[in-house]
Amino acid sequence: MAFWKPGTAGPGFVQERGGDAEAPVLVDPKLSHLPLSKQRQALPIYQYHRSLLYALETHRTLVIVGETGSGKTTQVPQYLHQAGWTAGGRAVVCTQPRRVAAVTVAARVAQEMGVELGEEVGYAVRFDEKCSKEVGRTALKFVTDGLLIREMMLDPLLSRYSVVMLDEAHERTVHNDILFGLLKKVMRQRSDLRLIVASATLDAEEFRDFFETADKEGDKLTATILSVQGRQHPVDILYLEAPADNYVRAAAEAALSIHETEPPGDILIFMPGAEEIDTVQMAVFEPAKPGIRKVIVATNVAETSITLDGVKYVVDPCFVRLPFYDPATGVESLVTTVTSKASATQRAGRAGRTSPGKCLRLVTETDFNSLLPARTPPEVQRTDLSGTLLLLKALGLHDIVRFDFLSPPTAEALARALELLYSLGAIDDSADITRPLGASMAELPLSPQLAKVLVASWRFGCVAEALTVAAMLSVRGPFERPRGVGAEAKQRQRSAMAAFATLEGDHITYINVYNAYCDEADGGSVDELREWCAEHCLDARSLRRAREIRGQLERYARLHAPPDHDNDLPVSKQQLRGLPSAGSDMKAVLRCLVSGFFSNAARLSSDGRYRTVREGTVLTFHPSSVLAQFGSPPEYVVYHEVVRTTQLFARDVSAVDPRWLLELAPHFFATRGGHQP
Ligand code: CDP
Ligand code: MG
Repeated sequence: MAFWKPGTAGPGFVQERGGDAEAPVLVDPKLSHLPLSKQRQALPIYQYHRSLLYALETHRTLVIVGETGSGKTTQVPQYLHQAGWTAGGRAVVCTQPRRVAAVTVAARVAQEMGVELGEEVGYAVRFDEKCSKEVGRTALKFVTDGLLIREMMLDPLLSRYSVVMLDEAHERTVHNDILFGLLKKVMRQRSDLRLIVASATLDAEEFRDFFETADKEGDKLTATILSVQGRQHPVDILYLEAPADNYVRAAAEAALSIHETEPPGDILIFMPGAEEIDTVQMAVFEPAKPGIRKVIVATNVAETSITLDGVKYVVDPCFVRLPFYDPATGVESLVTTVTSKASATQRAGRAGRTSPGKCLRLVTETDFNSLLPARTPPEVQRTDLSGTLLLLKALGLHDIVRFDFLSPPTAEALARALELLYSLGAIDDSADITRPLGASMAELPLSPQLAKVLVASWRFGCVAEALTVAAMLSVRGPFERPRGVGAEAKQRQRSAMAAFATLEGDHITYINVYNAYCDEADGGSVDELREWCAEHCLDARSLRRAREIRGQLERYARLHAPPDHDNDLPVSKQQLRGLPSAGSDMKAVLRCLVSGFFSNAARLSSDGRYRTVREGTVLTFHPSSVLAQFGSPPEYVVYHEVVRTTQLFARDVSAVDPRWLLELAPHFFATRGGHQP
């Protein structure tokens, strides 16, 4: 093919990114007919199980590197169990970046061990836990990384665990990065604790070096790497001779060219996001030629998360879409940017799983070498840190700047997060956590803003509503996206929304939706409920989940009840359904909302646009907001979050009285003169 030239071929191209269960883990078809015990022995890691246990006897930290599907997550905890690391009521805990991974992996391990989930093997994720109540019974526990940090609030030295396994460490989630720093401290104090880090080749040495330091007495904390050889075949890498001006088009052309000239084998095309995927699929399928070849167009998930057998060709435009948080404006944006060299290596490796393959990179070799960063900046350097810092404060860490970050966040991001926590009343003048407010907020598995709303709701007399709002904001929006395109679908959704909408905005509307849903759920059959949801364009799954979450949150809320309260949760008076204003009953709820979300306030400018009160950033209401559909634009609003897609959209918006902003957050608006509401 004319415009490709061979670059560096890649024999021994062994880069691994651990598996995950965002998409269900596919069972290797070659293994699935075998009994479970034989399947386990056929996994690459099985060959290493002795050296693995030996390494853990001789070192404090073990970094395990191995291809997706080699058995790290499911097997290592079982080896530890068999080798006696869980004797005497101790347990092994394994972290996962995503909750679904923690749940499915726990189920798989329980199945392999022939035990019931929730006994010897369990999981714990936000709002959901399945572990034995009997102390010391659950020996293997799979948790999200965020949850393990929370466990440290109750048990700072993680004294129940003999081994902590930080899995999928290459993903560098903010929680995982924080756990690195925290565990390093714990390791210095607990000489019996062992740490396993499961990761990709590229980061292994960095991880090992991080943990290979001295403890308090000056003794060395040892760390070592174990590489599990996968079944990886060589992949030839090719680059463009000249830059392409449209990578979507170039990707489609490359796929067609492979189809016409190359031997059989599936093609995997990487695209930054869903929109490009739609476009490229059109382009690929238009001139469909005889002969069948599967073309998979995927986002980053196919880089590490799913095992795709049969892929022989990878087309990689070297772009990715990632969230970046701007501490100056407090806005998180989805940005399409070049991938890192590490990701590109990983993507290319996908072509060599079952046989030698080819990877076509849609950039020139020169551009590849000069433009792509070595690796993607870790999440801790591109996210809002207020929730993380609150947790660290609750764990008693005073000097955040000196915290041992694997990759330190920017000073600006730290400052913004601390300022927000201070304005929320969660930390005091000397940056120590406040009690009871800050400490209560840290206990809630919610963002600091939402946690504040919930804790403050006792004072505002609207705990019931605050719980509903917090639960509804913790799930995807309650309204289904309009099915199909065009005016008719939109109109249908608009009239569905109108049944619940109030002029105060989305939060009160959500309360209406939730209450109506519960009435319906309690009064009828499952089928009737499903029908009712469909009729009102409501997402039944989101609502069911919201109800579960609310139940969990209610238990937390009761823990923070003032001493004099009786058993009923304070609730504002029932509001009206339908378009008319909910009236004064809902004022308490909105004021309570402002006490948490004052930093997300925007004002209608004379030019008809909304600008954030403090930074003056221009925002638009997201089309899913009732305020974007009904009523006249309120003068002041607070919103739950801002997302940048084509423009800056405020989601979950409610109208508020500007006086509440000054009354409830005097610091926040007083610090920068001229920006008062
Ligand atoms: O962690 P790693 O990617 O190295 O492998 P793993 O998650 O332990 O998976 C090892 C094997 O177990 C996979 O190749 C699957 O065959 C199987 N597995 C499964 O069938 N169901 C799961 N939920 C997880 C793993
Ligand atoms: Mg894994």
